[in-house]
Amino acid sequence: MAQVTLRNLVKKFSEEVVAVNNVNLEIEDKEFVVLVGPSGCGKTTTLRMVAGLEDISAGEIYIGDRIVNDVPPKDRNIAMVFQNYALYPHMTVYKNMAFSLKLRRTSADILGIGDLLDRKPKQLSGGQRQRVAVGRAIVRQPEVFLFDEPLSNLDAKLRVNMRAELIKLHERLDATMIYVTHDQVEAMTMGDRIVVMRNGFIQQVGPPMEVYNQPQNQFVAGFIGSPPMNFLDARLVADNGGVTVDLQGMRLPLPPQKAKGAEAYMNRNVVFGIRPEDILSTPEKKSASLAPLRATVEVLEPLGAEIILELSCQGYAFTARMDPQMRAKMHDEIEVYFDMERVHLFDPQTEQAIL
Ligand SMILES: Nc1ncnc2c1ncn2[C@@H]1O[C@H](COP(=O)(O)OP(=O)(O)OP(=O)(O)O)[C@@H](O)[C@H]1O
Ligand SMILES: [Mg+2]
Repeated sequence: MAQVTLRNLVKKFSEEVVAVNNVNLEIEDKEFVVLVGPSGCGKTTTLRMVAGLEDISAGEIYIGDRIVNDVPPKDRNIAMVFQNYALYPHMTVYKNMAFSLKLRRTSADILGIGDLLDRKPKQLSGGQRQRVAVGRAIVRQPEVFLFDEPLSNLDAKLRVNMRAELIKLHERLDATMIYVTHDQVEAMTMGDRIVVMRNGFIQQVGPPMEVYNQPQNQFVAGFIGSPPMNFLDARLVADNGGVTVDLQGMRLPLPPQKAKGAEAYMNRNVVFGIRPEDILSTPEKKSASLAPLRATVEVLEPLGAEIILELSCQGYAFTARMDPQMRAKMHDEIEVYFDMERVHLFDPQTEQAIL
């Protein structure tokens, strides 16, 4: 069993630089957990502490039932794959993968590099090198795999392929995997659960769709999802016995179940959040709570399967993601519909979600 538990984990590089700040996390046996967050938020440092490559300033790390704070890296039964492959340049693929013949063969075949065993790293493409690095991790048969942005040196198409391969690999190996990335798409598509980090602190932990649907604060709401959620300064006011979002005079009524959660913020400023995909071009949708708005098309970005629009309305600017069937042109004034059942509200001071 290889669950990994981080308890009150702290890494201070100096008084000012607290890279990891009181992190608590329980990773289940065989789980695929993704740490995601912007550059400098402490992802690599967390991973390196689990690997034993970085001293811990405070707290505990358990692998299985064993506390490993003082266990050297080679005795932790883990394998780490880095962004820059870290292969030995003078050795062939075969030698780079080391370990027993049989294991080498099996993992080379799993990864589709069986016919490259005699080559040296410089004779390989980036994707092939990264496969060798993963292969080298597999032959060690670790209980826990650690990946630090393993795909970020690859081109976009290869990244998508390798992403799928790693998901399959996880299924096949049945091992615990901790994967670090700053790419929210990778996090959403790969993780059983994702851990969103910021400035050394965990912001939210949960299955990807839960984090997407119920972000606990404005940072998570803006980080997960692409294009990002729109945030508009607003005020909550009473209207017809219900609660209405007031955007400089534009009034968007909240559906009753949302209104209930927002009552404490009546007559107060809030940050109103709506995702681009929840702004619709037609009212033909099941949601009972569509709020119509007239907006001007500032920019159109047709992407084939969808169209991204930059819209403006009463001094507000926001992004919508719509069906390419809609026929708008630049500078058109169009009617759009906010799906009020899917909107978010945040406290402007604490940035915590109100609903
Ligand atoms: N050896 C070090 N000495 C001092 N500060 C460090 C050291 N390593 C990292 N830091 C600092 O700790 C913080 C976290 O760094 P870390 O490398 O964990 O971030 P990250 O989330 O992996 O970022 P990235 O996405 O850029 O890789 C940063 O502020 C970084 O400058
Ligand atoms: Mg890093």
